[in-house]
Amino acid sequence: MSVLIIEGGRPLRGSVDISGAKNSALAIVVAAALATEGECVLDNIPQGSDVNTICQILQDLGVEVWYDDQRRLHVRGETLSKHKASYELVRRMRASFYSAGLLLARLGKAEVPLPGGCAIGSRPVDFHIKGFAQLGAEVVIEHGYMKAEATRLKGAHIYINRSSVGTTINLMIAASLAEGTTVLENAAKEPEVVDLAIFLNGMGAKIRGAGTESIRIEGVEKLRGIEYSIIPDRIEAGTFMLATAITGGDVVLRNVVAEHLRVPIVKMEEAGVRVTRSGTELRVVAPRRLKAVDVETLPYPGFPTDLQQPFVAAMCLADGTSVVRETIFDRFRYVDELRRMGADIKTEQNTAIVRGVPQLTGAPVEVTDLRAGAALAIAALAAQGRTELYGAEIIDRGYEFFEEKLRSLGANIYREQLTNPRELVIK
Ligand code: UD1
Repeated sequence: MSVLIIEGGRPLRGSVDISGAKNSALAIVVAAALATEGECVLDNIPQGSDVNTICQILQDLGVEVWYDDQRRLHVRGETLSKHKASYELVRRMRASFYSAGLLLARLGKAEVPLPGGCAIGSRPVDFHIKGFAQLGAEVVIEHGYMKAEATRLKGAHIYINRSSVGTTINLMIAASLAEGTTVLENAAKEPEVVDLAIFLNGMGAKIRGAGTESIRIEGVEKLRGIEYSIIPDRIEAGTFMLATAITGGDVVLRNVVAEHLRVPIVKMEEAGVRVTRSGTELRVVAPRRLKAVDVETLPYPGFPTDLQQPFVAAMCLADGTSVVRETIFDRFRYVDELRRMGADIKTEQNTAIVRGVPQLTGAPVEVTDLRAGAALAIAALAAQGRTELYGAEIIDRGYEFFEEKLRSLGANIYREQLTNPRELVIK
C-alpha cells in the first residue's frame, strides 16, 4: 500500500503534458492482437497499472508484447494460442473482458472469468455476453467463467440496451473478423470508441459510423499490424483542469483534444474558470473562488462520469450550492472521505448536493477507486494542512506520473510506501 501526502494551499502554475488515453489504450492493445500479419507498434500508451494488466493478460494468452526504448508498445498477435484467461489477472480490472472479443474472433473459443463487483457498484457484462450470442457464439456461464464458442462469428444486427462503452468496444473487436456485416445500434459515441475504429480500419477492418449511434462493421478475413498513436486522455486533462481550478492556478495543458472536453469546459467556464485554446494546448486560469454549478453525468458527449468525482471535489470550495446527478454508476461512496476534510455534501440516491464551504482541512483519507483518488487529491491540493491519501496505488491504475506532474506544477506532494499499514514513516 502507498500513501500520497499532500500539503495543500499552493496554486498550480506552469505547463503539463497530458498522457495517452488509458481507456483507449486498453481497447487498442487488445485489438492489436487481432493482427495475424506483422506487429502493431503503439505510441502514446500511458504507463498505468491497468495497461500493464492488459499486457500481462495478452502475454498469458501467448501474445508477444514488449516496449522498445522509445516507450512504444509492440504487440504481435500471431502467437495467440490459449483460449482461457487467468482469473488472477482478469479480476484486477473489468476491461480485461475485452479479451473475450479477441479470443472469439481469433480462436473461435473463449473462457474468460466474469468480472466481479467493484468499488463503483455492480457493473455487469450481460450486454457483452448477449452480443456474443447474437454473433452466433454458443455461450454458457459455468464456474464463474463465460465459456463461448463459434467456429466463426457471424455478423448480426445488435441493439445495445444502454449506451455502453465496453460492450461497443468488445463487439467491435469480435465483429471485425466475423463473416458478414454487423450493425451495432445504440452504440457508445465516446472518443475512445472512435479511436478504436480508426485503429482497426488502419489494420484493414471495415468499420463505419463510429462516433454515431449506429456502427456498421463489415467482417474481413484478416487484419495486419500497423503503427498507431492513441488519443490524449480527456479524463486526465479534465482532472488537471479541476486541480488548477480549485487551487486558483494558471496552467497550460499540452497534448489535448479540446473537442473531447466540450461539456466539461462549458461547466468549468460556468464556474468562472477561463479556458483558452490554442491548437493542442488549453490554458486554464482559475478565478479567486469558483461559482457553484450543477452537473449531470451522461454518455458522451455529455459530462463524463469519470469526472464526476473530481468535479464534486472542486465544488466543495465553490461559492453556493451545486447539485450533481450521477446517471451511469453508483459513485458516491467517496463523499464520506471528502466530508472528513470538512466538505458539506449530502447524497440522496444518485444525487449529491454540495454546499460550498470557505475552507477544507487536510485529513487522512482512503482512496476507494481510481477517480475517487483523483477527487481526494484535488481537494487536498486546496485544503489547509496535510492530507494523507491511503491506497494511493489505485491512482496509478489510470494516471501516469501523477505526483510528478503535480509537483512540476508547484504542488507539495510526495509518496510513502507502507510495508506495514501501521507504520507510516513521517518525513
Ligand atoms: C467505461 C470506462 C469507464 C467509464 C464508463 C462510462 C473503460 C475501460 N472504462 O466503462 O472509465 O466510466 O465507460 O463512460 O473504458 N452495463 C450493463 N451491462 C453491461 C455493460 C454495461 O448493465 O453488460 C451498464 C453499466 O453498469 C453502466 C452503463 O451500462 O451503468 C454504462 O457502462 P459502460 O459504458 O459499459 O462502462 P464500462 O465500459 O464498464
